[in-house]
Amino acid sequence: MSGGIAAYKAAEICRRLMDAGATVSPVMTIAAKRFIGEATLSALASEPVRTSLWGGPEPIPHTRLGQSADLVVVAPATARIIGSYAAGISSDLLSATLLATRAPVLMCPAMHTEMWEHPAVVDNVATLKRRGVHFVEPGVGRLAGGDLGAGRLADPADIVDAASTLLRSSRSLDGVRAVVTAGGTREPIDPVRYIGNRSSGRQGYAVAAELAARGASVTLVSTVASSLDAPAGVDVVEVETAMEMLASVEARLGAPGSSADLLVMTAAVADFRPAARSDQKIKRGSGVPDVQLVANPDILAGLAQARLANNAPGPLLVGFAAETVRPGGPTLEELALSKLRSKGADVIVANDVALPGVGFGHATNAVVIVDRDGRSVQVPLTTKEKVAVAVVDAAERILVTRNLTS
Ligand code: PMT
Repeated sequence: MSGGIAAYKAAEICRRLMDAGATVSPVMTIAAKRFIGEATLSALASEPVRTSLWGGPEPIPHTRLGQSADLVVVAPATARIIGSYAAGISSDLLSATLLATRAPVLMCPAMHTEMWEHPAVVDNVATLKRRGVHFVEPGVGRLAGGDLGAGRLADPADIVDAASTLLRSSRSLDGVRAVVTAGGTREPIDPVRYIGNRSSGRQGYAVAAELAARGASVTLVSTVASSLDAPAGVDVVEVETAMEMLASVEARLGAPGSSADLLVMTAAVADFRPAARSDQKIKRGSGVPDVQLVANPDILAGLAQARLANNAPGPLLVGFAAETVRPGGPTLEELALSKLRSKGADVIVANDVALPGVGFGHATNAVVIVDRDGRSVQVPLTTKEKVAVAVVDAAERILVTRNLTS
């Protein structure tokens, strides 16, 4: 805990972690002690609170704490602790412990909006994310002094969820090379206009982040690289069109020495593109343009066919299916199974994108996951991060049977 008004919520985070079976070693900065009593945390946690590098029973407490931790959670994380961690400064027990650990670190920022949006803090957060530090982003709400805005500590339940995801993931996919596609392709008509779709890339980014958290080395082939932050430790390749996506995926799947074990096609790939792209902006005065379309290659189906033709195991192929279920028609699961067969994929994750909160652009999704071994898993409406956990679980199950994972 560092020193902010949200430090009182650390008591609930501590209690929830203890309830979930964790061993919790509380560390407070001097400023945190102004907001919550040491006795409260000592009573809730597994061992007494530590607040100083000096004067305790252990000669070097930060190395013991840092080396023995499976996870370090900083909640609340003030601008000061974020800044000193980014700069590698260890001026107190908490900042020294952060530098002394090799465990994953989960920062839960809480501060006033002006501070959260200050370029120095924005840069420090970006630096830490680039180094693989995890964040539970603050929410928008009432702040100290009655102000309203971004910077409020995330809900304790969400922080504990993020902590358990990090602990559970524990690098079970070390050594696995994965390619994930995200976003909608844009098929240009002229320098200004394109045929596109509503995919935001959020589901693909969540899948990439979950794979990386489990230790996979991940390349994310993305059409939205300029609008979404790259997940920690993920290599992002920016593409625009279906043809560019195909070339990028094939290069990573097929190249000697760089072949991947897993492809997750979350992207919404345009099935058609304009047959010709005008070099000049098409002017209104020249009448309604006659845009001829040609079919794009089906990336997923093409790779499945190549795998069959080569008679080699090839990469595990996971596809998504954007469906709209009609009353009286086939169910989402039936549509998923039919796409599994028609594409030749190993796993299909189907979402009914006509339902509220599901699919394109939302922070949430609801899916059914079917695989070639006849398994079917329903994931009711939840965050795209939790859907990603279920998708990666399904892929990992098959990878394990192929002995590809550690
Ligand atoms: O990006 P978000 O806003 O988070 O939204 C997520 C999503 C709705 C885009 C995602 O959940 C999703 O459903 N992605 C797949 C969308 C899609 O293109 O579905 P499809 O049924 O048309 O295609 C089936 C599969 O074939 C997909 O894996 C697709 O990537 C792949 N495909 C499709 C066409 C094509 N030419 N080549 C392909 O490889």
